[in-house]
Amino acid sequence: MHDATPPRLTIRRPDDWHLHLRDGGMLKGVLPDTARHFARAIVMPNLVPPVVTAEQANAYRDRIMAALPEGMTFQPLMTLYLTEETDPDDVARAHAEGIATAVKLYPAGATTNSASGVRDFAKVRPVLEQMAEIGMPLCVHGEVTDPSIDIFDREAVFIDKILKPIRKKTPDLRVVMEHVTTQNAVDYVRDTPKNLAATITTHHLIINRNHILAGGIRPHYYCLPVAKREKHRVALVQAAVSGDRRFFLGTDSAPHNDPAKLQPCGCAGIYTAPVTMACLAEVFETADKLRQLEAFTSLNGPAFYGLPPNEETITLVKDGPFDRPDRIETEDGPVTIFDPGFPMHWRVDA
Ligand code: DOR
Ligand code: ZN
Repeated sequence: MHDATPPRLTIRRPDDWHLHLRDGGMLKGVLPDTARHFARAIVMPNLVPPVVTAEQANAYRDRIMAALPEGMTFQPLMTLYLTEETDPDDVARAHAEGIATAVKLYPAGATTNSASGVRDFAKVRPVLEQMAEIGMPLCVHGEVTDPSIDIFDREAVFIDKILKPIRKKTPDLRVVMEHVTTQNAVDYVRDTPKNLAATITTHHLIINRNHILAGGIRPHYYCLPVAKREKHRVALVQAAVSGDRRFFLGTDSAPHNDPAKLQPCGCAGIYTAPVTMACLAEVFETADKLRQLEAFTSLNGPAFYGLPPNEETITLVKDGPFDRPDRIETEDGPVTIFDPGFPMHWRVDA
């Protein structure tokens, strides 16, 4: 007889090590989608104006907690936006008082709201040295902004021209390469035994550049760093499912309302929070590595950040395929949810 019980997978509750929650009406709209599945998230500071000081991070954390619906639990792990004026003492205070978990480095002009980022890396040296000393991680948007560098090469060039010199000068600095998109980044992390890890997004495990550009342009697949060739996507999947402690989930779920995505110069960012766990279950199952899902979503990140893994669990059940909502409505307008382009069979049990 055929056993009708659907497959189930119970794992420690996941965390998201790179997330955009925005502010105001958008924050209210998207926060429940993350809090439903994730216990904690590293919250990006690229608001307008950016979250630069300990005081601003504290105020932003309060706004996030105020937007959390009753009955839900969630811990935002705040980051400070590194500028050329950042005060090393303010960073140290934010770390010592538990206000900020990490500092975020955006090369100026690399992506959404990065205008206040770093142009001259010599100017942030005192902050980086301070962080190395106190063991505070630096989250890095690893793309050069030089307009003469092809957009598909900007991550690889950043590694050679910016990241390697920084790490050579400050080997004790703990660095997370955020949302890696290339085989080059995977190899660099693999070749580095200490103080370097990488987050991988949901969408970069699923789409390559053809998904954005072949057969019509698809703005909802546009993000930064932009998805690369298929061989790079394959390298990311291999890293994610490998169990290697240096790779963990950072969704980079980055909501923009549809009017902001669908215009002649549309915003970069893909909203994956509601479907990430369903998508990842599918990706890991396809690679025959479901048993490594927990390491990627729930164990490797806390280990790097020196935090305990979550005690609670979630259970994924494979009883689909499901109809998926196309978008959520927020006070800031509709936000399209990532479409992985394949049927999703797994869901997080309520
Ligand atoms: O696609 C992206 N969207 N990449 C980023 O680095 C920023 C993000 C955003 O804030 O929308
Ligand atoms: Zn991001």
